[in-house]
Amino acid sequence: MNKVILRKTEEIENWRRNINSEINFIPTMGNLHNGHIKLISTAKNENSNVNLVSIFVNPLQFDNKLDLENYPKTIDNDIKISFENGADAIFIPSTEDIYPPNNEKITLLKASKKLSSALCGLTRIGHFDGVCTVVYRLLNLIKPRNLYLGEKDWQQLLILKNLVLTKKLNVAIKSIPTQRDFDGIPLSSRNINLSKNERKLIRFFSNELLVAKENFQKEQKIRLKEIIRKLSAEKISIEYLEHLHPHTLQKARVEDNISILAGAIRCGETRLIDHVFLMKRRPIIAIDGPAGSGKSTVTKLIAKKLKLLYLDTGAMYRALSWLLIKEDIDYEKENKLQKILKNISIVFKSNDNANQDVFINNYCVTEEIRSQEISSIVSKISSIKEVREFLVEEQRKIGESGGLVAEGRDIGTTVFPDAELKIFLTASIDERAKRRKSDKKSKESQEIDIHTLKELIKKRDFEDSNREISPLIKANDAIEIITDGYSINEVVDQIINLYNYKIPKEIQIQ
Ligand code: PAF
Repeated sequence: MNKVILRKTEEIENWRRNINSEINFIPTMGNLHNGHIKLISTAKNENSNVNLVSIFVNPLQFDNKLDLENYPKTIDNDIKISFENGADAIFIPSTEDIYPPNNEKITLLKASKKLSSALCGLTRIGHFDGVCTVVYRLLNLIKPRNLYLGEKDWQQLLILKNLVLTKKLNVAIKSIPTQRDFDGIPLSSRNINLSKNERKLIRFFSNELLVAKENFQKEQKIRLKEIIRKLSAEKISIEYLEHLHPHTLQKARVEDNISILAGAIRCGETRLIDHVFLMKRRPIIAIDGPAGSGKSTVTKLIAKKLKLLYLDTGAMYRALSWLLIKEDIDYEKENKLQKILKNISIVFKSNDNANQDVFINNYCVTEEIRSQEISSIVSKISSIKEVREFLVEEQRKIGESGGLVAEGRDIGTTVFPDAELKIFLTASIDERAKRRKSDKKSKESQEIDIHTLKELIKKRDFEDSNREISPLIKANDAIEIITDGYSINEVVDQIINLYNYKIPKEIQIQ
């Protein structure tokens, strides 16, 4: 494809008509650095869409005329860098193109009040309104499938996500982690203006944030006053330093598993921002739903793609059922059950087929636990209070440091009620019976006629939803996905997109 430079809004229309592809859009204000390069190359490597980089210094987002005049302009180098790193087209409009004088069609937007009345919004009056206005204008012109933004400007990212949501724009926002220079300071077009001493101060500030993050991991505590005291002792002028909830930007609460420590400082004429995410444990995805909804297949794939641990709680209940049958234990008798539970160990181990085996008391039971005999008894056994309490405790131990995706029936409600993402995966009875029937791995399901399969599924749903302890119910904050008509990959992508939307990339790579 010929690489092109577009300068007029009308040219965008023509270009879009000719490319015959979806668009990845990377908006910039020029003076490109490695952070922008990472955005462009991520877009290029992620899919086969056409990549459009825009370079436009948006006057509406500058609250200070001098800052606008001094904003570094390096257009020839920007063009070179963009094309070298994967841009197929570059859009370099003039101010008149983006904001034609006397054009009433240009809407001046207001950023979300809640999100813009914190952090930078407190001093940079009108800044986020200007960002929203220009991005909305560009999105309407370019109509991209994906919009790539950096997490360095976390507040901007939240505000633009909110804009896309409230304006119901058909574009997916993809983010990349803050990119840092060799000395740890975040890459920014403004770094070019820093003197040696100013750079040293920023390094001190960024380093203090990193130290705070490490301390938080050990102590689960943040000592804001101490950090402020240290920064002041270095004569660093602090505009703000706040510990907030990462999505609402309200004060962080003790129960927040993920929070953000964000700060802005002034060095000479330059104002710089940086942040770190603080985490009590790595994120957890809870996937609940009835039998046959596709949970296992979907959860396994998500675990692989997101490099998370896969916790198959159903297999734990099945393994325990298998042992109770094998050892002929009268599980209705409380004392016998208590005794056996004391000596049970269930572990998962990766096997050669890149899957995992489940062991109970050192027996590998991966295959046996899928038999119809176990299927017909597992719901009953999993409704026993002692069994439930024992396995929930085991599951919580596995999930103590997070970094897992767990599937079951009570993950989002009982096991991990504070999971970052909760999905309730379901499908109609007809669809689930059809899937069971075509499941080559389950010989028994293939032998049963479809009508009986449907009745069995209904019975299982009834038992699971009506048992006294941890019944199958959708958590209030779970997102329901009805999988009828969707391929497995489509469901997996949908869940991964939700995860990426909620969990900063900066946390995912830790
Ligand atoms: O982050 C930026 O560079 C700008 O705010 C953006 C998104 C290009 C809008 O002008």
